[in-house]
Amino acid sequence: MGDKKHSDAQAKREIDDLRYKIERHNYRYYVLNDPEISDLEFDKLFRRLQELEEQYPQFDSPQSPTKRVGGEPQEGFSKVEHRVPMLSLGNAFDARELEDFHRRVCKGLERDDVEYVSELKIDGVAVSLSYEQGRLAYGATRGNGQVGEDITANLRTIKTIPLRLREEDLAAPSLVEVRGEVYLPLSAFEEINRRRAEEEQNLFANPRNMAAGSLRQLDPRITASRPLAFFPYSVGYSQGIEFETQWEVLSDFGKWGFNVNPNIALQTGIEEVVDYYRRWLEKRNSLDYEIDGIVVKVNRLDFQDQLGKVSREPRWAIAGKFPGQEATTKLLKIEINVGRTGTLNPYALLEPVQVGGVTIRQATLHNEEDIRRKDIREGDTVIIKRAGDVIPQVVKPVEGKRSGQEKEFSYPTHCPACGSEVVREGPMAYCTNRQCPAQRLESLKHFVSRGAMDIRGLGGKTIEKFVQEGLVKSPADLYRLKDKDEQILALEGFKDKSVENLLQSLEQSKQRPFFRVLFALGIRHVGETVAEQLAQSFGDLDSLMGASQEEIEEVEGIGPEIAKSVHSYFQVEENRQLVEELRRAGLSMEAEKLQRGNALEGMKFVLTGTLPTLTRKEAGDLIKKHGGKVTSSVSSKTDYLLAGADPGSKYDKARQLEIAILSEDDLRALLD
Ligand code: IVH
Repeated sequence: MGDKKHSDAQAKREIDDLRYKIERHNYRYYVLNDPEISDLEFDKLFRRLQELEEQYPQFDSPQSPTKRVGGEPQEGFSKVEHRVPMLSLGNAFDARELEDFHRRVCKGLERDDVEYVSELKIDGVAVSLSYEQGRLAYGATRGNGQVGEDITANLRTIKTIPLRLREEDLAAPSLVEVRGEVYLPLSAFEEINRRRAEEEQNLFANPRNMAAGSLRQLDPRITASRPLAFFPYSVGYSQGIEFETQWEVLSDFGKWGFNVNPNIALQTGIEEVVDYYRRWLEKRNSLDYEIDGIVVKVNRLDFQDQLGKVSREPRWAIAGKFPGQEATTKLLKIEINVGRTGTLNPYALLEPVQVGGVTIRQATLHNEEDIRRKDIREGDTVIIKRAGDVIPQVVKPVEGKRSGQEKEFSYPTHCPACGSEVVREGPMAYCTNRQCPAQRLESLKHFVSRGAMDIRGLGGKTIEKFVQEGLVKSPADLYRLKDKDEQILALEGFKDKSVENLLQSLEQSKQRPFFRVLFALGIRHVGETVAEQLAQSFGDLDSLMGASQEEIEEVEGIGPEIAKSVHSYFQVEENRQLVEELRRAGLSMEAEKLQRGNALEGMKFVLTGTLPTLTRKEAGDLIKKHGGKVTSSVSSKTDYLLAGADPGSKYDKARQLEIAILSEDDLRALLD
């Protein structure tokens, strides 16, 4: 590799320079929201740093931005004692209680002109970050307030947590504990849950649970895959710096490169604080993160000291809590809707109730296990909750309100739509009939939906009508509609123009890339991401259809359950026929090649043994990214065997067949 001439000192300089630049770009991108360079240029710097760090392991540093992608899994979390306890807050539930707080403060300070800092109360997870000489030494959860858990590896993956404090405007002190809230933006929460739903994994109830779950991952790579963020809000212990006010604390956090919440306010007297409370109560749904109230703090730190605390709660601060996005109502009936892959999805019909200004009539119940675990019965009074724009959920029943008339729900043994037998897999129940009309209808709706073939002008109601009229049974029938324009025109609500538009949308949908087609097929556990990975790895439909379950499982991010589902989908004659019909209709069955180098175009690789730095999956991905293919057994068609330490029988076979055997270094040379 070309850089052997680099002296150690030169390399160290370049590494330091790259680390500094990358962190600066991270800061501009994640904190200032004002990037200076393109993602591509950023990736280039990042890759160069990774390369150098690999070559010069002696300059390894936990502060390197490359460490943000998540290190090795850990056994467990060790305990950390906080130097200063992490307190909790007393609550005020309305304007009057905020005024009571102000009166107590004035009395304690013996004055009536008090300055406050009002902040949003972020609904996330409290953490404490210890910076020693400006470097993130460790970070911990709140725990019981005295002792928390060391989650440094996970916190390092959060881009808005500086690994080193910026010192351009303010020198870092010898020690400072920065406290604040780790949260998950609502948009990310919804996106992750949407994908999990598509892949039929359990959903997270709210962003806070998802953030907490992500922080407690023993494998930091999982944390790194969740776009967590951080707002700082107070100082714990510090050495080598004196702060006078809370406002100064927040402003110094900003100078050190933290993303201070922009909605903080410096106020005098309680009226302004109450206004702030009311304003944010109204505007809470306009933010991309959840807040459950505001926090009001006496600005001067000497006043804070003077006021002190009662047990675990400071007298100088209070949470102004918002009424929850929760409500109680009566659960009238539990119904089941059959999903496109045959899942039986239970939902609750509710007595209409207002939550956060919206009337709610239905709420999801997830699955049978959930209903049982929460012991939800028809006729129960239940607590329901709305989080952001997410579908409302039934949180739990209010058991004290039971009259004894409530009915335990007996989960159907047969599909409510077609009467076929129901099978159970994990927490889910499925209808076993592939011809089930409800499944077919839902699959059609999925096929035309936005992330899939995106056929505009073909909504759920129209599809239902087409199915009722016998115009469409399977997705392939959609592309035969052009010969049925007369029949469509005869339907209520269709005019020449709308039929023309519809046929045009159908035509346009043929341009959708292969992975969209794959996603549109509605294979169980194949969401958009999985579809994209499959399309990119196998390149075309025939390779995917011909792949064994093991070969599918070799794709990065694809586990045995997904592999099994994809493999068995293509074993069913009816499905093979459907894709053939779609191919004939002109849909794309081939992935566009990635823009990167195609140095390995058309070459077939087999992998064996343990490679020095790459896992097999990583090596496989690298090969596929450059146009090569990876197969599981050596044959005369194999071009290369990529072999590491302790190779298996494939090694002997390759030697017998005189197939070229490469090391990881040889592979890299080939790519260069
Ligand atoms: S100040 C003594 N400020 O609310 C002051 N807390 O019960 C301690 N929280 O667990 C906290 N946003 O995690 C403060 N702007 C904010 C906050 C905030 C959210 C959380 C915090 C704590 C809980 C208070």
